[in-house]
Formats: sequence, structure tokens, C-alpha cells
Amino acid sequence: MLGGKMLHLSQLVWVGSLLTAVGATPVADGTTPVPGVDDTEKQHQAINEEMSEVQKLSRAHFDFTLELYSLLVGDSGDSRGNLLLSPYSLTSVLSMLYLGAGARSNTSLQLRNGLSYHNLSYSEVHRGFRQVVKNFEEPYYEGVVEAANAMFQQQGIPVSSYYSKALEEFYHSELDELDFAHNEPAARERINKWARKKTRGKIRHLIARPLGLETKLILANALYFRGKWLYPFNRALTFDKGLFYVTQQESCWLHSFQSCVVIRYEIPMMIGKLKVPMGSSPTMECQVLELPFKDRRISMFIFLPDDVDKGLSKLEASLTSETIKKLFSTLKDETVNVRLPRFKIEESTELKAALEGLGILDVFDSSKADFTGMSSANGVHVSDIFHKAAFEVNEEGAEGGAASAMGLERIGSFGEKYFEVDHPFIFIIWDYYSGMVLFFGRVVKPAAVTSTTV
Ligand SMILES: *[C@@H]1O[C@H](CO)[C@@H](O)[C@H](O)[C@H]1NC(C)=O
Ligand SMILES: *[C@@H]1O[C@H](CO)[C@@H](O)[C@H](O)[C@H]1NC(C)=O
Repeated sequence: MLGGKMLHLSQLVWVGSLLTAVGATPVADGTTPVPGVDDTEKQHQAINEEMSEVQKLSRAHFDFTLELYSLLVGDSGDSRGNLLLSPYSLTSVLSMLYLGAGARSNTSLQLRNGLSYHNLSYSEVHRGFRQVVKNFEEPYYEGVVEAANAMFQQQGIPVSSYYSKALEEFYHSELDELDFAHNEPAARERINKWARKKTRGKIRHLIARPLGLETKLILANALYFRGKWLYPFNRALTFDKGLFYVTQQESCWLHSFQSCVVIRYEIPMMIGKLKVPMGSSPTMECQVLELPFKDRRISMFIFLPDDVDKGLSKLEASLTSETIKKLFSTLKDETVNVRLPRFKIEESTELKAALEGLGILDVFDSSKADFTGMSSANGVHVSDIFHKAAFEVNEEGAEGGAASAMGLERIGSFGEKYFEVDHPFIFIIWDYYSGMVLFFGRVVKPAAVTSTTV
């Protein structure tokens, strides 16, 4: 149990660290991927006593999140579109994979480096996850975080019982068998059905294209979130014809940024006067606002570039753990006049190229992947990875119901702050207890939610 211990914001983005690189190597020896064997373990703990596994994991997880995000936005092509990632889902499923990688194999090292686990031992990663998984099983999260993270394998591949046990113990998960080779449509439908069920119907088609008949191993993750605001917006104040300014893509592509055309379009704009933490950074040229969800266990952080037009790219280029930590250190409670679109975002993200960009290569290669911790069979490798996340912002948070007035709505007296989300922005949805990033994304063109009943 985490014992309800909440991480402080500064611990989530740990920068000044106590850690010394101990050069941890995975302790699994292929047949026993269960942690607790190696002596470096004790050494680690002595050095890092002041930082819990969850803290360390959350820090690594954040570094991984930023690196992945920058690879995804750096990929040209659709780089001007919306983006939604669930780093928590993805890290979970990749760590499950790491659990089964052959000790000291390139596969294992690549996952370890790619996931930024430099400062955690193999055991610490999985023990950290055991706590994280427990955290999300607490009653608070029921109906709030709907996560589906799993691996599916081709029927008939023998799976080590150590691996199955460890998967159950540390991730409360199991490796499901499906017959991709003989009945691909049925296998695919099983996965989609599972994701639908896990996300209570919110993610309906996790896998939208046929899978190869040679499929050995599939990573699937889907996340839907429906938290309720700590301070709901009053629906009666929502302005249906709010304006959102978007830089028109085509003109930018054709004529470079000099002649980008900023267009505006209508979106319902929620309006509220809230006492919430707000901060800013002149160097990142942005403002940040924290909008807490109920009980302040989870918060949404909105990073709003100062410049409507080119601000987002600049902000993205400046995102590091350091700059974000600095930015967060400026957060302080203010009375803020907030304008936030009522929007929804749902994205499937192709991750294979980005993961390869992080150096996670061998897992996808049948001749190189080493999953001897998982199976004695040859050629077990990851054929595909499917990632889909969905999220909706409305007055209540993410569910219908009568909005309770806050009594603070009168807009604009002298000395108050403004935070008007009327142009592209970045957001993070963060869990304070596990340090996991539920969502990391950017909204370039929000899709309006016309009806707020989910
Ligand atoms: C690991 O710890 C070292 C030493 O404190 C630190 O410089 C480095 O940034 C840490 N790496 C990660 C990925 O957390
Ligand atoms: C592991 O990676 C190293 C460096 O890229 C390479 O030289 C070596 O052949 C790889 N080992 C295996 C077993 O693939």
C-alpha cells in the first residue's frame, strides 16, 4: 500500500537528486525474473533511502514521457495535429515486457534505457509498479481511471510460470492467449471487446486494422479518464460561441511560418472564477494553471503559450524536467478568471517508430528479441503495439450532472488573473499518489463537446 501518501509536486519532477548512478544491472537470470536476488539491491536502497521506489519510478517515468513526446512531435507529417498519450498505460505495458526480457540481453538494456530506468534496479522497477498498480485499484479510482493494459500472445507459445506469477504479483495482469494465426478476426475482436469492457465502452475500436497472421505478441493499452473537478464550472455561464484561434496548417506548410494564417472558430467556452494555482515562465513564454480534480488526488496542468501563433512549437522545444520543475515552482494560489473550451480528444497513436527512436529496437525483431524471461520459445517478439486514449473536458469534469455553483463567478475585478485557453496548449493529467502521468497531450484543434452527458 502507498498508505495514502501523496507525492509533492517537486517530487514528481525530481531533478536535484540524491541518486548516484550505481550501474544497476537486471537481477533476473531468465528463469527467475522475480526480483530480490541481487546484492546491488541492498546497496541501492542504502543510497536512495530517502526516495521511495514510487518516487524514483515516477521520475524516470516523467523523463520517458518527455522524450517520447518530443519524438512524437518532432516527427513531421501530422506534427501539427492533436496528440494524446497515456504515458502511464504505456510504461506499464512496456515494463511488463521488461519483466520478461532476458537478463542482460540487449532487449532488456534497450527497454531499460528507453524507459529511463537508469537509476532503478530491475527489482525496484517492478516493486514500484506493484505499488502503483495497487494505488489505481483503490476505490477512489473506480469509474475515474479506466485503464486497459495487457499483452496478448499467439496460442501455443509456452510461457514460463515464473513470468506468469511475477506478472500477476507485480502488475495484476496475465498474458492472454489468442489464435492470430488461424482466426485473426476473432482474436482482434476479443482484444477490442476487452478494451471496450475495461474502458466501459469509451474506447470501442482499439485495433482498427487487421493483424498479421504471424503475430506473436501484441501490446495493448487504452485509457479513459472521467475525473470530476474539485471546482466545477457553472454550466449556465458557458458561452456557446467562444472563440479558439488556430494556426492554419496548410498555409504554414506551403509558405513556412512567415505567412501562417491564424483562423478562429467557435467552441463552447466554460467560464469560471477559481482560486487555483497559477504560474508562468518568461523563458518558456508560457503560463501554467493547475485544475485539481475531486479530492486533489489528480490534477490537470495546462501549459498555455504566450504567443498564439508560434508559441506551441517554442514551448515544446523548451520542455525538459528541469524547465517544468522551474515552471511548477512558480505556481501559487491566485483568483483566476478561467476560460477553458469544453472539448473532447481521442487519439490512437502509432508508437513503434517513436519507441525505436528511443532505442527500443530489438523487441520488434524476431531474430534479435530476447524474451527468455517469458518464454523458452524462439522468435517471440512484439508484432504490434496499440495505444488509444480518450478524454473529455466539461463543466463537471467528465460526467453529466448538475453543476454546483462556486459563488465566485463574477468576471474581472481589479488585480485578478486571467487564464484564457483560446489557442493551442499542452496539458498533463497527473496522479499525485503514484506520480504517474495519466495523460500528456496537446490540443491544437479541440473538438467541441455539444452534449455533456457522456
Ligand atoms: C540518475 O542519477 C544521476 C545522478 O544523480 C542523475 O544525474 C541523472 O539525471 C539520473 N538519471 C535519471 C534518468 O533519472
Ligand atoms: C548487442 O548489441 C551490441 C551493440 O549494439 C552488438 O554488438 C551485439 O552483437 C548485440 N548482441 C546480440 C546478442 O544481439
